[in-house]
Amino acid sequence: MAATSLFWPLLALSFVNKALCQSSVAQCPGYKATNVEEHSRGLTADLTLAGAPCNSYGTDIESLRLEVDYETDKRLHVKIYDADENVYQVPESVFPQPALDDKDGAAESTPDLKFSYEESPFSFAVSRASSGETLFNTSGNNLIFQSQYVNLRTSLPQNPNLYGLGEHSDPLRLNTTNYIRTIWNRDAYMIPAGTNLYGAHPVYLDHRGETGTHGVFLLNSNGMDVKIDQDDDGEQYLEYNVIGGIVDLYVFAGPSPKDVSAQYAQVAGLPAMVPYWGFGFHQCRYGYRDIYEVAAVVYNYSKANIPLETMWTDIDYMDHRKVFTLDQERFPLNTVRALVDYLHQRDQHYIVMVDPAVASSDNGAYNRGVEKDVFLRRQDGSLYEGAVWPGPTVFPDWFDPNTPEYWIDEFARFFDPETGVDIDALWIDMNEAANFCDWPCSDPVAFAEQNNLPPEPPAARQNPYDLPGFPSLFQQGISSNASNTGTDQRRAVVTVRQEAVSNDNANGKRLGLPGRDLIDPPYRIGNAAGSLSNKTINTDLIHANGLTEYDTHNLYGTMMSSLSRDAMLNRRPDKRPLVITRSTFAGAGAHVAHWLGDNVSTWAKYRVSISQMLAFASIFQMPMVGSDACGFTGNTTEQLCSRWAMLAAFNPFYRNHNEYGMIPQEFYRWESVAEAARKAIGIRYSLLDYLYTAFYRQTVTGEPFLMPMFFVYPKDARAASINTQFFYGDAILVSPVTEENKTEVEAYFPDDLFYDWYTGLPLRGKGEVVTIKDVGHADIPLHVRGGSIVPVRTGSEGWNTTAQLRKSGFQLVVAPGLDGKAEGSLYLDDGESLEQTATVDAKFTYENGQVSVGGTFTREADVRIEGVKVLGEEVVEQTIDLPLTESGSVRLDGCAA
Ligand code: GLC
Repeated sequence: MAATSLFWPLLALSFVNKALCQSSVAQCPGYKATNVEEHSRGLTADLTLAGAPCNSYGTDIESLRLEVDYETDKRLHVKIYDADENVYQVPESVFPQPALDDKDGAAESTPDLKFSYEESPFSFAVSRASSGETLFNTSGNNLIFQSQYVNLRTSLPQNPNLYGLGEHSDPLRLNTTNYIRTIWNRDAYMIPAGTNLYGAHPVYLDHRGETGTHGVFLLNSNGMDVKIDQDDDGEQYLEYNVIGGIVDLYVFAGPSPKDVSAQYAQVAGLPAMVPYWGFGFHQCRYGYRDIYEVAAVVYNYSKANIPLETMWTDIDYMDHRKVFTLDQERFPLNTVRALVDYLHQRDQHYIVMVDPAVASSDNGAYNRGVEKDVFLRRQDGSLYEGAVWPGPTVFPDWFDPNTPEYWIDEFARFFDPETGVDIDALWIDMNEAANFCDWPCSDPVAFAEQNNLPPEPPAARQNPYDLPGFPSLFQQGISSNASNTGTDQRRAVVTVRQEAVSNDNANGKRLGLPGRDLIDPPYRIGNAAGSLSNKTINTDLIHANGLTEYDTHNLYGTMMSSLSRDAMLNRRPDKRPLVITRSTFAGAGAHVAHWLGDNVSTWAKYRVSISQMLAFASIFQMPMVGSDACGFTGNTTEQLCSRWAMLAAFNPFYRNHNEYGMIPQEFYRWESVAEAARKAIGIRYSLLDYLYTAFYRQTVTGEPFLMPMFFVYPKDARAASINTQFFYGDAILVSPVTEENKTEVEAYFPDDLFYDWYTGLPLRGKGEVVTIKDVGHADIPLHVRGGSIVPVRTGSEGWNTTAQLRKSGFQLVVAPGLDGKAEGSLYLDDGESLEQTATVDAKFTYENGQVSVGGTFTREADVRIEGVKVLGEEVVEQTIDLPLTESGSVRLDGCAA
């Protein structure tokens, strides 16, 4: 009560401020362009404030510089920054801007986009060169460029199809009226709709159907509200309201959605390839009591005959939740190592979590960090402390040149394959950065005490489980002895990142304007956590290189990610690292993968998991993505969990994870769920090489492999708002049941030929909704798009792991298109090496009853194509024998030569 009444006057005051400021925003003078110089590939100009400053949210900057570059035929770059270059810009060490290979070459070609401008007041527009269609147009709205506020508004057609601007849990196709997408990374427990979540991806797709699709990316890491609405005259607009940084805008011409995505990847970076085994099924939970319980879960999966690829451990393994420590009683090193050996012997894997915050008590990681001086400090020089899982904590400063060495050494020591916890991949969390302690967090010790951080772990116990086949340490009744925690062996340190960080701002520029209010800026973005610094690191901290946390907050998770990837590479330099992070910034996919955070065991979150996955995979270029299957917090239900076991099998990253205190939800807990999981994993594994091939292509070309329907049918207007069906690779349409107690799906089929995955029977799509009936709880409707050939691993015997799966041969599933033809491909490599020297890159075609294989074969494939199945009214299956080492073709029986 008391808190609410205190809060109201504050809220009211902020509305009054806002209203006052908004009227002055409308009167801002804008800029006048002078000294316009056109050059072979664009233009430059000076922009000077065109009247009295309005100083609405900070002070207007008098002199700006405009740079326009036709960087490629398909990409236009518009950059507006302060002439003195003091305003913060996203540093190259975090987001390297694309290298332009051939400047003159680009000038000779004909760009698809056209830039035009008005001198006074300055405004600009971008249009399609071929049709003249306007794509982005700021005219009628003066640019505002102030010390703590940038406003840029584009008009748009009515009711536009807009997607992106993540991370969010709203519908894939964004609302177009009265809608604000706030971008400010935060620990977003329960991922509420309409709020800012863990990641910052200020890129959108504007899909206009017949006339094409384009994309717009604002490279800016400051907090922002992107407003999408209609003005008083009913004109549609999209408006950036950013609390710092510059206008660094990329426009991508498309014209197809897939093209836009690939063009964005050229700027943001192509996604990192992941190990083959990473696509296996993962089991995790928060609250496994000890290593015995972890082992028992592994055992139970195997007993239930559900293939488990990777076992995970949450912060439970840590000594009172301190990173780089082991709980000596519940997770003693010798037992952890014994379990990891056991998993490895069975081609299974092990992953644990690492958080960025280091417990500020006497422990190795803290003491070494203090010695190297890598933790963030307050402006008075004292160490900045917050409170996270272990209680009071300090936070690494990723911009400090000593931090790479520190972090890499901590990994080398704690995760030493010979003497430490030998993880195969990594899970990183709480890197928004999350801080439980509310701003100003002046007494984190008291906060931790009041909030029982860290809680006392449960009493240690002897192994209560019967685990036949496990190492002797896991025999019932045995309590393991604590052992060493690893040697102090130092590893070679990766210095590249260190140098990159040191080169940022080498000339003392772009550090951010002095004199700003870094805690409570005049324009308040709609951060669901309240003020900017609440529940995170204080935004007035200054990093070792002089940058402010205010400007770089949204980069914290991504910087932790790329350094952690380096740390994993340092342990195993030849292997592709798999790092799963919670917080991301644009471009993070080039280094790491993402899980979608703390969702809830509800049908609404089950449904939204589809849009979230699609946005990350097809727009943000983070294709290794997935939600916690069965839901993280709240108790799941048997039905929801069985549906989710099926749906999540079509997430690139497939993991069951739930929260401490919730009912257990491993797939074997209910027979119906176990049945769904066995079936889902069976289908997923049979399609794993199809998935791997399509994923690999995205890492090479940027063309997304997992897509909303409109990516495949861009001209189909109804496809633009389909949220719950999607393409898993461009050949397979997934149409999951989305409602509780339903066994039907209202599925939309565009004008094309499809085939039921299970029966092979054709379904002629007519641009209409079809009711798919009798979808049992262990079922998920799948259709193959006509025109595709899908390589499928044959048989499912012994597929306990992906290593076993790789020994199976292939059957080609042929789905003839309306023209009777089909094509597909298959990429094979060793599945784990960073550099691949020998691969199979096969192309399949089908025409007139003949299947042909071509491509390049530098790898000695040990499996063959053993069969063909042609879908249709009559499904034809035939055994064939084609090696995957050379081109060849086979005429199917009964087909005329
Ligand atoms: C965060 C993570 C969640 C994890 C928990 C404990 O809430 O998002 O996945 O289980 O922390 O580490």
